[in-house]
Amino acid sequence: MRTIGVGLIGTGYMGKCHALAWTGVHAVFDDTPIVRRAMLCEVEENLARRRADEFGFEASTDDWRALVADPGVEVVSITTPNALHAQMAIAALEAGKHVWCEKPMAPSLEESERMAAAARASGRVAILGYNYIQSPAVRFIGKLLKSGAIGRLTHFRIEMDEDYMADAEAPFSWRSQASSGYGALDDFAVHPLSLITTLIGAPNEVFGEMSKPYPDRPDGGGRRKVETSDIATALLRMADGASGTIQVNRCAWGRKGRLQLQLFGARGAIVFDQERFNEVQVYVAEGPPEAQGFRQVLMGPAHPPYERFIAAPGHQMGFNDLKVIEAHELLNRILGRPSLTIDFDAGLAIERTIHAIARSSREGRWVTVSES
Ligand SMILES: NC(=O)c1ccc[n+]([C@@H]2O[C@H](COP(=O)([O-])OP(=O)(O)OC[C@H]3O[C@@H](n4cnc5c(N)ncnc54)[C@H](O)[C@@H]3O)[C@@H](O)[C@H]2O)c1
Repeated sequence: MRTIGVGLIGTGYMGKCHALAWTGVHAVFDDTPIVRRAMLCEVEENLARRRADEFGFEASTDDWRALVADPGVEVVSITTPNALHAQMAIAALEAGKHVWCEKPMAPSLEESERMAAAARASGRVAILGYNYIQSPAVRFIGKLLKSGAIGRLTHFRIEMDEDYMADAEAPFSWRSQASSGYGALDDFAVHPLSLITTLIGAPNEVFGEMSKPYPDRPDGGGRRKVETSDIATALLRMADGASGTIQVNRCAWGRKGRLQLQLFGARGAIVFDQERFNEVQVYVAEGPPEAQGFRQVLMGPAHPPYERFIAAPGHQMGFNDLKVIEAHELLNRILGRPSLTIDFDAGLAIERTIHAIARSSREGRWVTVSES
């Protein structure tokens, strides 16, 4: 395969990240087909044309079904609001396209199940936009855990906080509509769960709590009732006896992109924060007690695939680089190579956990993930 044609639906915040990833992936990883940015779709024709010019796409449309049907499009990036993922992903898979869909899968479990079934039936590759698992730091943490560097994992805490909805006067958007899902659970908690899935395993039982800091938000000239919960907490019990917590808040003033991971083992600990994602803190309980302490490891060429971006250590990677790596992993999977990706089946397991947490919050009891 010398070239591969991609289509992009949605050109907002994540749409631009996908466009940059498709633009950069071949330059960064020279082992991929040349990516042809074939077609882009937006809600309105002029906007679609403007974005196609900006992002370097050959054609544009305001009809996502036309994009999905286009023979020049082999992979479809879906970066639209959550409520649209299921219909777009299923149509793309049925048209024989590979799919790169932003997280979460879909607001309802039934839609997520249909997406996973469509992926299985199509024989195409379908993955979700769980970019944080692609970080060199997270890969390094996985290696440390596997090598037993901190012993058996006993407990983990993951917090994801941002303040983009902290202002009570921030305008109402699709993120406050029930059609987008539960709120912070679908928007944020899925990311910690992607890390748990990749690094630790699957939770058995959960206990959840969700809350809504502001009852309404400005909308047009008036105010509109907020239908989602912007804060959520979950206790998790893992199959092997380890326990953990997830706390997420999209109204956390001062936190800009905090995704903090604390992993405690029988012989040490690992701490990582996405806000400083070129650094990993490692504590190993060995040697004289007076010399023990956290060691900071700075990501560099020894932490793949950092070296693909820049040969020099200490120069740091950024968020969009994670999307380039994710695009590469998707292409690897399409080419039948080993690939680190969360496909629709693995994504469905994350969705089941999300729905179990929400159910627990409603019913005030521990919920087994397999119940949902
Ligand atoms: N992986 C991550 O870290 C991450 C971060 C942010 C958002 N997301 C996910 O990405 C998705 C999009 O979020 P966003 O922040 O980019 O939203 P956004 O509102 O900035 O962008 C959505 C875009 O989709 C377009 N759109 C809506 N309906 C459309 C249609 N029918 N056809 C074509 N285009 C359409 C909108 O016009 C808009 O440009 C969400 O599912 C969100 O959860 C993922």
